[in-house]
Amino acid sequence: MWLAVVLGVVPLLIWLLCWWNDLWYGLVTKTLRSSEGGTHLPPGYMGLPIIGEMFTFLWYFKFLRRPDDYINSKRSKFGDGIGMYKTHLFGRPSVIVFSPTAARFVFRDEESFILEWPNVELVGKSSLVAVHGKTHARLRSFVSRSINQPEALRRIASVMQPSMISALDSWAKRGTITAYNEIKKVTFENIGMFFASFKPGHTLDMLDEYFIGLVSGIRSYPMNIPGFAYHHGLQCRKKTVAIFKDELEKRRKNGNSESMNDLMDGLMKLKDEEGGRLSDIEILDNIVSILLAGYESTTLSTMWAVYYLAKYPKVLLKLRDESMFIKSSKNEQFVTSDEILKMKYTMKVVDETIRMANVAAFVFRTTTKDVNYKGYTIPKGWNVMLWIRYLHTNPENFNDPLCFNPERWDASMAPGTYQVFGGGARNCVGNMLARLQLAIFLYHLSTGYTWELVNPDAKVRYLSHPKPEDGAEITIKKL
Ligand code: HEM
Repeated sequence: MWLAVVLGVVPLLIWLLCWWNDLWYGLVTKTLRSSEGGTHLPPGYMGLPIIGEMFTFLWYFKFLRRPDDYINSKRSKFGDGIGMYKTHLFGRPSVIVFSPTAARFVFRDEESFILEWPNVELVGKSSLVAVHGKTHARLRSFVSRSINQPEALRRIASVMQPSMISALDSWAKRGTITAYNEIKKVTFENIGMFFASFKPGHTLDMLDEYFIGLVSGIRSYPMNIPGFAYHHGLQCRKKTVAIFKDELEKRRKNGNSESMNDLMDGLMKLKDEEGGRLSDIEILDNIVSILLAGYESTTLSTMWAVYYLAKYPKVLLKLRDESMFIKSSKNEQFVTSDEILKMKYTMKVVDETIRMANVAAFVFRTTTKDVNYKGYTIPKGWNVMLWIRYLHTNPENFNDPLCFNPERWDASMAPGTYQVFGGGARNCVGNMLARLQLAIFLYHLSTGYTWELVNPDAKVRYLSHPKPEDGAEITIKKL
């Protein structure tokens, strides 16, 4: 009898465990959706109950450090199919989208695939990242005009340069620095300046500290009890909002007589087509959410630029030549946004850096209804992960994708293959600002300094964001 148990029941139980998710979700889809045509889930494997494929995901991202092989292994098992696989990740049944065509399908259908934030109260319920439809479009237009349009970019370009120049100078005096840590400081100083004209000092230091708590609260379990990350995140959000609220009230009291020319000022003054203005809570929620969206992404992309230029000296030489040419033609130390955006090679370096940095490896959506795609069903309430990292590292989209080659931008890319800033109605509203910021930094760095990586072979960590283990430690000196 025991032999029968060992040879029969145990393997059966293991088999059931391994296929439980596939059987369960497959059966539910077949029974509940049989009347609507598409009864098949996309190809793929959904892993063990509850944990799904989390171990496989971590295996490729954390242990092997070959994140792209997660998709490659699926391609060799299931074929390319419809450019989507079913899986179970982060505690939810999910669909991974990895082909440009399938990604475009998802990005374009904003009604069936919506962006849902976990712990949205930390991001701000009336911020543009949390609202949908017309409210989203209205807020987006406000924010875009305040940070991403030529007039705003001109103003921001002049505000951000003093801190960049003085940071670079201090790095060279120290000789060796960790690029990630130092760039983070300078990015935050700049954010303080162009968000609310905060000068470096106590308020900005406190904001930076609260921000760390806020970010860790967003993806934590929502337990509002002291000691839990979510509770701490809520406290940090309250304090962050209080700092910006104080400033807002100060400005209202003064009748905003003295124009501050920053994001808060912009959001306070702007009107929509009907003459309506943003409420105070909308201004505050948006400032917090833009801080969330722009801080880490800008820091990481800038760090990767420093890293790749140290590894590709020929690219640096060409970049330096272009910047030197502009520098020699002017008397001022500052460069304008109009000059920068005309620097063709620099902008190619910027685009190539952001492609290789893959700061946002994937973006999330949730289905609001059953969606049929090429004969398959993506059921309502499922998580959709647009694996944009793979669009940029797939050799079918970019020749020799892991080589840092700005020249590849001489030709235009196949549609849907370059989605570093997302796509559709939710694409990055700070995309021009991000590119400008990076280009201005490269202008000052390349014309004034030479640097080398201390550990050129440092391993790269891919979670939560790609970063060399040493944070890109460099030695740096004046040219
Ligand atoms: C290289 C740097 C950056 C990268 C790679 C990046 C990437 C992205 C991506 C992929 C999305 C789309 C998210 C989605 O579809 O769910 C996004 C959205 C967004 N980004 Fe960026 N971003 C960068 C810099 C910035 C900066 C500097 C700001 C502002 C200061 C910013 C503000 C935003 C906002 C507000 C959204 C939400 C837009 C919406 O929901 O309508 N980003 N970003």
